[in-house]
Parts: sequence; C-alpha cells; structure tokens
Amino acid sequence: MTNDPILAGVVGSPIAHSLSPLIHGEWLRRAGINGRYDAIEIEPGYEPFKIGMDELRRRGFRGVNVTLPHKENALQYADAAAPVAKQAGAANTLIFEDASVKALNTDVSGFTTSLKQAGIELGEVKNSTVLGAGGAARGVVAALACSGRGAVTIFNRTKEKAEAIAALYENVTAQDWDRCPRALLKTDLLVNTTSLGMTSNPALEIDIADLPRSAAVADIVYAPLETSLLRAAKERGLKVVDGLDMLMHQAAPGFEAWFGSKPVIDNELRELLVTELERRKQ
Ligand code: ATR
Repeated sequence: MTNDPILAGVVGSPIAHSLSPLIHGEWLRRAGINGRYDAIEIEPGYEPFKIGMDELRRRGFRGVNVTLPHKENALQYADAAAPVAKQAGAANTLIFEDASVKALNTDVSGFTTSLKQAGIELGEVKNSTVLGAGGAARGVVAALACSGRGAVTIFNRTKEKAEAIAALYENVTAQDWDRCPRALLKTDLLVNTTSLGMTSNPALEIDIADLPRSAAVADIVYAPLETSLLRAAKERGLKVVDGLDMLMHQAAPGFEAWFGSKPVIDNELRELLVTELERRKQ
C-alpha cells in the first residue's frame, strides 16, 4: 500500500492564471480523493513539450490538460487519439497509460454542452462565425462543423491558419479578418476563440450591431467573465454563453480518467470560480 497522491495537472504558457487547479482541487476535495493537480509552465515549442511530458510520465503523472500554446503539440505527442481530437487537429487532454499516451479533445464536447445548457442546439445553427484560428478554435470548429449542419466561417488575423482548419471540413471557409463585419448580418452564432478581450490583452474591437436579433454570442475568454463582446451582446438582448461553462465541462472527462470518479458541475463550482475571478480583479 502506498499513500502517494494520484498526480495530474495542466500544462501551458502562461499557466499561472489557469482556473483548472481550482476546479480539479474542488472535485478532489468533494470526492475525498488523495490526489494533486498542478499548474505546470512549459515554454512554447514541440521539443520543450516533449521533454516536459516525458518528465511528468517518469514522475508518475496520470495525465494532463493542455492549454495555449500546446494543443497541437499534445496531439503530435500522443500515440493514439480519439477521432474527434484527430478531426480537430488538436488535443486538450492527455491520458498517460503504462506504455502509451492517449489524446482527447474535450473542448469539443465542453463547447457543445455549454451551448446546449444555454438552449442552443448546434443542429439548428445555420451560419456560425468563428473569430480566431488557434488551438481553441480547432475544438470549436470541430463541434460546429460536425454536430451542426450549417456553414462555418473563420476569420483570423493570420488567414493561413484559418485556411488550414477550413481545409479539414466541407462546410468551413476562411476569410480575411477585416471582412468580418459584413458576415455578421447572416450570423446565427458568433464565437470568439481569440485571446482578445482577456485581462491584460488588447480588446476585441468588433461592432455587433449587424447581428440578427435571434443570434447568440459565445466567448471562450473567462477572465473577465463578462467580456466587452458579451456585454455588448447582452445590451442588445442576445443570448450569451461565457467561457466558464465551457471550461468546467471540458475539465470533467480528464478528471474521471485520472482520478476514477465522475465529477459534478453545479452552481457551487461556478460560484467558486466567479469568486476567484473577482478576487483577482482586486
Ligand atoms: P489558443 O490555443 O487558446 O487558441 P493560440 O493558438 O495562441 O491560443 O491562438 C490565439 C488566437 O488569438 C489566434 O487566432 C490569434 O491570431 P493569429 O493566428 O493571427 O495569431 C488570435 N490573436 C491573438 N492576438 C491577436 C490580435 N492582437 N489581433 C487579432 N488576433 C489575435
């Protein structure tokens, strides 16, 4: 018998701001599991990522969540990947097994569930507009392109990155960033996956006056919780989905795989995260 805690964590750069340790720490506490979930900084690039993962496996970690800028590296590092991670070309959850590593993309299900809870069924969305083409966009586009039957348009500052994602799907196209305002007229669902609007990043400057009154707006940024995009959408009376819901839902499958217990996502957990975000503002 050993009393060593079960180990897991989140890797990225920067990582100090991550709320994932709070989520997993709360679930560990509730389930009474002897476990630890650490935030680990790994500098950008595949080589540092590989060295970091090899080291964590040596130390006995069961797996990690992966965030900016390593979601594509995570897929490359894994020996096997869930179909949805392969399709998205990115992974946010790694499960370390004895001799191999499995990659999941739970951003896809996390995003889909957060929309569903807000009363948005992807199958009913005709035209979606995605801002950004980084690792998070890959999960969001996979959800929109595969569950939805409509058209998806990606706008990204670096158009080549949007084109690389669009090439994976029949119903996805890439457009120049500055053409975005015109697309809003026909948009049913607008999703920001860029890091614009996040605390200490530049603002996302977009005028959403042209969005139809029936449109919904989702922002994966959760710090601040009410981004200027979501505030503008609320002021117009549009349905909004904030980044915390997606964050909580994407966390659950990893927790279950590493710690062997199905976690509960409830208002109490959300309040814990909101309180922490408020504390950080002071
Ligand atoms: P993540 O894995 O969270 O998606 P990422 O891969 O670093 O993070 O992607 C960040 C996204 O925000 C990218 O789409 C990026 O655009 P580029 O592909 O052109 O870099 C976008 N982004 C970041 N800063 C931006 C800015 N100042 N203006 C426009 N887009 C920006």
